[in-house]
Amino acid sequence: MKNRQLTDTAQALVCGGRGLLAMDESNGTCNKRFAAAGITQTEPFRRAYRELLATTPNLSTCISGAILYDETIRQRTAEGVPFATLLTEAGIIPGIKVDIGAKEMAGHPSEAITGGLDGLRERLADYWSMGARFAKWRAVIALDDRLPTAACIAANAEALAGYAALCQEAGLVPIVEPEVLMAGDHDLERCRLVTETVLHTVFDALYEQGVMLEGLILKPNMILPGLACPIQPAADVIAEATVTSLLRVVPAAVAGIAFLSGGQSGELASERLNAMNIKAKASGSRIPWPLVFSFARAIQRPALEIWKGQAVNTAHAQQALYHRARCNHAALRGEYSAALEAA
Ligand code: G3H
Repeated sequence: MKNRQLTDTAQALVCGGRGLLAMDESNGTCNKRFAAAGITQTEPFRRAYRELLATTPNLSTCISGAILYDETIRQRTAEGVPFATLLTEAGIIPGIKVDIGAKEMAGHPSEAITGGLDGLRERLADYWSMGARFAKWRAVIALDDRLPTAACIAANAEALAGYAALCQEAGLVPIVEPEVLMAGDHDLERCRLVTETVLHTVFDALYEQGVMLEGLILKPNMILPGLACPIQPAADVIAEATVTSLLRVVPAAVAGIAFLSGGQSGELASERLNAMNIKAKASGSRIPWPLVFSFARAIQRPALEIWKGQAVNTAHAQQALYHRARCNHAALRGEYSAALEAA
């Protein structure tokens, strides 16, 4: 029964031609983004911003699920409606970030291990009662000539698998996010190698923990050169590298793949996702999973910049969010274009 519920939720999130809105920045990260945009960094402003996102007209035509942060799932709209209820009634499945962030790893300078397993079973039960039907846990893997270490990959893979098993026990679909970071001057090939190693280790750990892959969504990075790499290949090269890597290491049973944006611009993220879906269409059934988005920065950035913390800008900011959602929605069908971007 639970398995059926998990696969139904996972499919509703990734199989209907829509993608996910990640609006689950921790208070610290949200405040950092507010500070950069000149917005006051307080709870009422974070609440107002999340309300702006969640009440964007027609959002559910493009968005199947929204990932919330602990603070947001406990908040209500100005009209007193809990965010999870608002989203559910709009046809968007509410989800929740359940990790408590990446902390420096003992004995491994410059590497991090994500925490949050203590008390997770109880927190998941709480989140379920608040309306969440899926969860997210992000591991971060830094990369340079020497990193990541096998110890960092293994420790994060274990934590991801433990989290995923607890989620499924609670009836929540786990989104498993092992993010290989874009910072650095590494090339595409180095990112490919590291990402494949990480995913391979993560799926070994998931297998060991008995996680049901049909009720799980993978949230990986695209295979990209570092931001400081002088060679930045075209979208179809990135699409080919990403799809090739995923085919090598991700079991076909996984319900779907929902990419993070990782600091790419909105336009590049849409273009690259589009190139992957063109490839998927052309390959017939060779690519077994839906390839969707679960972006935060690449979908929210223009809206945040327009809003500036002022109610008078809300409608315009919502249009900007809807525009990015629509571009990414088109990318799921391989129909994103410069004309649509400019529309
Ligand atoms: O955990 C990170 C978010 O869910 C995705 O964020 O698209 O800005 O990388 P991003």
